[in-house]
Amino acid sequence: MSGFENLRHAELTTSGRAAIYQALLQLHLPVQSSVLVPTYHCPTMIAPVLMANLNPVYFGLTDDGLPNLATIDAVTADGCKAMIVSHYFGFSRSLAEVRQWCDQRGIALIEDCAHCYFGNAGNRPVGAWGDFATASLTKFFPVPEAGVLASAHHDIPPLRLSPPGLKAQLRGLADVLELSAEHKRFAGINSALRLLFWLKRSLRRTEPKAEAPPASATENMMQDCDMARIAQGPLWVSSALMSVLPRGRVMARRRENFALYARHFDHVLGARPLFSSPPESAAPYVFPLWVDEPDQVYLALREQGLPVFRWDRIWPGTPHRDGDVGPLWSHHVLQLLCHQDLTEADIERTCRAILSALPPAPASAISAAH
Ligand SMILES: Cc1ncc(COP(=O)(O)O)c(C=O)c1O
Repeated sequence: MSGFENLRHAELTTSGRAAIYQALLQLHLPVQSSVLVPTYHCPTMIAPVLMANLNPVYFGLTDDGLPNLATIDAVTADGCKAMIVSHYFGFSRSLAEVRQWCDQRGIALIEDCAHCYFGNAGNRPVGAWGDFATASLTKFFPVPEAGVLASAHHDIPPLRLSPPGLKAQLRGLADVLELSAEHKRFAGINSALRLLFWLKRSLRRTEPKAEAPPASATENMMQDCDMARIAQGPLWVSSALMSVLPRGRVMARRRENFALYARHFDHVLGARPLFSSPPESAAPYVFPLWVDEPDQVYLALREQGLPVFRWDRIWPGTPHRDGDVGPLWSHHVLQLLCHQDLTEADIERTCRAILSALPPAPASAISAAH
């Protein structure tokens, strides 16, 4: 099976954000060096740059989610030492052009594969374009927390990570058992598990925090990114599970779920799939849906607790540039989870909720459609 696991060198971390942080450390850049990051992002892609004492500088995106290299002027490019590029939604794309652009300028490429763990990106396995590549395992596997720093090209010396304490190890184990019980994989021992969950909750109880002074937008964002465990080692339970969990079902079920979403949004007024079917070998992370008037729809979905996200919290200071779809996607694109454990009924529920929250089509549009 092609994909991230084909990369020659790999080290487990606690998360995708920790892997990005560790990738930046591998580059040994001078303090406050500039790092190119996309305008369309989850804040956890930017926080590691700041944690590594580096300076994020933004680039825009083309319609297919690749870096729009025309949005980076020569002076900016000259001052940058690294670039973080993501395969959004699991639509892995060839990074041949970006790789060449980086090589010509001596810029290190970090390939963020948080959304695509399997398959190829053009004619290379995902992750093989970057000097370093990063993955977020919790998005694809039932592990309590884990990411990977990998490279097809460079040795990765053992990361100097501090070992997690016993409390964290036990909490991780309890998380896995709880998740399994939710999915009814432990029929007959549920009362024993309830005891474990109580133990887990009591481990999580923390002292009340003293009143803090008001924080800046950046401090708030950083706090929400929860970067506390980026320098810690992975949990024992995550490492153990990753060596035994099956991969094939994950890919097949995600593609099926993607196709189910696609069927609902084939001819809908006010919403359309952002892209058609994913690359042949990919296991999509989400189904990206463009919605013309997204605010009401997204609010309704969140209120119903449905598995849908929008990256509408972008890092303070992210610029608006001509020829960049990033700000449009942050507003209009809903990410509908394709997770393997979602059933056909779950997908139906989400689709029905979206369809009923879309504003009614004007009569002229309905008669034109007929
Ligand atoms: C594209 C992308 N990169 C990196 C991350 C960070 O991954 P993690 O949540 O495992 O830290 C995320 C998280 O949502 C992401 O969507």
